[in-house]
Amino acid sequence: MAKLCPIPCLITITFLVILAFPTSASTDKSDAQALRDLYRSLNSPPQLKEWKLNGGDPCEESWTGVLCFGSSVIHLKLHGLELTGTLGFDLSNLRSLKQLDLSSNHIHGDIPYFVLPNVTQLNLSGNNFSQSIPYSLVYMKHLRHLNLSHNTLSGPLGDVFNGLENLIEMDLSFNNFTGDLPTSFKTLTNLTRLFLQGNEFTGSVIFLANLPLSDLNIEDNHFSGLIPEKFQDIHNLWIGGNRFNNGSNYPPWNFPFDTLPNEQNITSPPSTNLSAIESYPSHKVRGHKKKGQGVAGIVLMVGGGTLIAACAALFISIRIHRSRREILKSLGSCEGSTRSSPISIVRGPYIAINI
Ligand SMILES: *[C@@H]1O[C@H](CO)[C@@H](O)[C@H](O)[C@H]1NC(C)=O
Ligand SMILES: *[C@@H]1O[C@H](CO)[C@@H](O)[C@H](O)[C@H]1NC(C)=O
Ligand SMILES: *[C@@H]1O[C@H](CO)[C@@H](O)[C@H](O)[C@H]1NC(C)=O
Ligand SMILES: *[C@@H]1O[C@H](CO)[C@@H](O)[C@H](O)[C@H]1NC(C)=O
Ligand SMILES: *[C@@H]1O[C@H](CO)[C@@H](O)[C@H](O)[C@H]1NC(C)=O
Ligand SMILES: *[C@@H]1O[C@H](CO)[C@@H](O)[C@H](O)[C@H]1NC(C)=O
Ligand SMILES: *[C@@H]1O[C@H](CO)[C@@H](O)[C@H](O)[C@H]1NC(C)=O
Ligand SMILES: *[C@@H]1O[C@H](CO)[C@@H](O)[C@H](O)[C@H]1NC(C)=O
Ligand SMILES: *[C@@H]1O[C@H](CO)[C@@H](O)[C@H](O)[C@H]1NC(C)=O
Repeated sequence: MAKLCPIPCLITITFLVILAFPTSASTDKSDAQALRDLYRSLNSPPQLKEWKLNGGDPCEESWTGVLCFGSSVIHLKLHGLELTGTLGFDLSNLRSLKQLDLSSNHIHGDIPYFVLPNVTQLNLSGNNFSQSIPYSLVYMKHLRHLNLSHNTLSGPLGDVFNGLENLIEMDLSFNNFTGDLPTSFKTLTNLTRLFLQGNEFTGSVIFLANLPLSDLNIEDNHFSGLIPEKFQDIHNLWIGGNRFNNGSNYPPWNFPFDTLPNEQNITSPPSTNLSAIESYPSHKVRGHKKKGQGVAGIVLMVGGGTLIAACAALFISIRIHRSRREILKSLGSCEGSTRSSPISIVRGPYIAINI
């Protein structure tokens, strides 16, 4: 590639792509409509700048919290914006969404049945959601991080976790869930961090025994029965405030608190070893990009290398075919180079790519 087109030429191509994107990247119709409908069900709050009930172009106009790739909305991040209202019923139309963060607002009502086939992060924590988890969760096979903590969710968990084998972190803490853990917990084969504390769960925790957990908090529930021997391999374990079997010979294995298994001592974590958190396989890259960034800045960053140019060339060829799906696929292969480089695909107030 470098032979056919020397580096200055590649930079020029990249530059042209950057200039070309804003004019051609109007938001996918169903994505735009889904955001308008969400705006309505959230009572059209003024803190969502640029958002509109009718018309408007979310990607083009940098609607608050919206990040697009090409014409698709891929992130929606509305953390801590004092939002009220409900979620509405059209979220499923955000078909390319990868990250949804509505945490720390005052949204109420149930979590509607919605399927975001590509979503990897779902954070609805710190709201006022009620009822239980919708069965549609089972269809979000790419989910890696789920946080529903600090709501008023209640009732038993349905068998909604089947086959979520990409899930590595789940936080259902501080709700009002009741009942036993469903058998589908057994299928969460990549789950390393699980937080269930502050609920009313009952029954056995045996389905958690074979998960690759490094962090487990099940404090302050009504779990009973045996504490699985495998739990001694969990680095950060909180299990106090339950009704586990605690006879004189129990637990029968060398648990850190086996010398005196009273509530007080069980409540505090027996081993707080931060290495467990450090080795947690998350590759977070965060950066910031302001709207209307200077062209000079872009040019400087473009100097970053031919990899960007190669990706840009790829974008061009893909855009010629005008296939949204292919563009998204190419995001995967070029994501590495977009992490800290403001290629024009990145709009909105920030970029946060979590692979
Ligand atoms: C979901 O992601 C895959 C791979 O990243 C992509 O091929 C597919 O088009 C995406 N689906 C949608 C609806 O964007
Ligand atoms: C919401 O959850 C996601 C996934 O766990 C996480 O990346 C994000 O930082 C959370 N948002 C806040 C504001 O903590
Ligand atoms: C989930 O969200 C709550 C509140 O927003 C936060 O305190 C907690 O740390 C989050 N859980 C995880 C595992 O990140
Ligand atoms: C949550 O909803 C309940 C009623 O469903 C209401 O009484 C309560 O005040 C709400 N809490 C918050 C923090 O909005
Ligand atoms: C999930 O775990 C399986 C083995 O249990 C492994 O093959 C797979 O790569 C893991 N997936 C992720 C996303 O970590
Ligand atoms: C939790 O559930 C119990 C039993 O259903 C109920 O009495 C209690 O009011 C609920 N608490 C909250 C905060 O919803
Ligand atoms: C075992 O639990 C009972 C209550 O469930 C408690 O009274 C007793 O002190 C506990 N035994 C030990 C050794 O902690
Ligand atoms: C915890 O156990 C130790 C002995 O292992 C004891 O000295 C200590 O007082 C206990 N702490 C509490 C808060 O009960
Ligand atoms: C944490 O664990 C590592 C290995 O698992 C060990 O080498 C280290 O000493 C531990 N640190 C503490 C503070 O326990």
